[in-house]
Amino acid sequence: MVEKNVNTAWTEGSWGFAGRTYVVTGGGSGIGRAVSLALAAAGARVVVAGRTPEKLDETVALAEKAGGQALAVPTDVRDPDAVDALVAAGVERFGRLDGLVNNAAGNFVAPGVDLSPNGWRAVVDIVLNGSYFCTRAVARQLRAQGTGGSILSVIATYAWHGHPGTVHSAAAKAGVLAMTRTLAVELAPLGVRLNCVAPGPTETEGAGAALWATEEARSGVLATVPAGRFAEPSEIADASLFLLSERASYLTGECLTVDGGQWLGKQVYGRTGA
Ligand code: HXC
Repeated sequence: MVEKNVNTAWTEGSWGFAGRTYVVTGGGSGIGRAVSLALAAAGARVVVAGRTPEKLDETVALAEKAGGQALAVPTDVRDPDAVDALVAAGVERFGRLDGLVNNAAGNFVAPGVDLSPNGWRAVVDIVLNGSYFCTRAVARQLRAQGTGGSILSVIATYAWHGHPGTVHSAAAKAGVLAMTRTLAVELAPLGVRLNCVAPGPTETEGAGAALWATEEARSGVLATVPAGRFAEPSEIADASLFLLSERASYLTGECLTVDGGQWLGKQVYGRTGA
């Protein structure tokens, strides 16, 4: 059993994180917090962004407790000016940036034809527009530095297979995948790599409240996972750090699925591998 939010596999220096700085959006909880703490444990400095200052402060305190350096910057990724200020704050504190994790997301289950325009916009604004604004701001900084870097976006397998009840999120995540592939080609000459990770159902408060709030919904989701369990946030962090790291130095424009076989299982068996 993998312990939540603890990552001992990435020793300082060996994966190229020592002294590097990464912005992590939605870093106050769930997968964003796990990635922030894993980066800090691997020797990176982390600029933790999100809407709730108290949660960001908690992540920073945990990162510092683990011996890392982190900075909380309250940010709404939907606001391009706030995103530019986030990048400026990270550079002011740590001198430079080396990458970004687009993790901030919003989601809820609703039939696609019943969504209000604001409901559609709320999710597309956070997931697609927010990821673009952050990618643009960090990529400009990397270009100005002339250092190269690595940008990772957290998406979902329904970016390519769709999912009833989450048309806003599926469309937005598909947009993030297309953005990643497009900019991977545009920015490769600058040494900037862009990749995605597609987690399956993961034990986080945000996803639990948005997508499997009842015990019945939770068991329904669990029944679709051939591995028979939800992912721990640290398992998504492990895959994320690999994609961000020097060990993935020739890997760009890709998406790594980390879902316990969920989406393949649906294709092959209709439901699970059992
Ligand atoms: C129908 C809803 C709704 C719901 C909100 N809306 N929740 N409509 N059913 N359950 C509508 C509102 O009525 C409103 O439209 C519009 O959406 C905006 O709502 P607000 O609450 O004003 O927006 P905001 O405060 O910006 O909140 C954004 C949010 C919220 C997306 C709605 O849930 C959020 O911020 N969540 C962040 C955390 C989160 O969701 N994390 C889960 C990510 S999990 P009207 O028309 O009334 O004005 C994830 C994993 C996917 O993405 C992969 C799994 C495998």
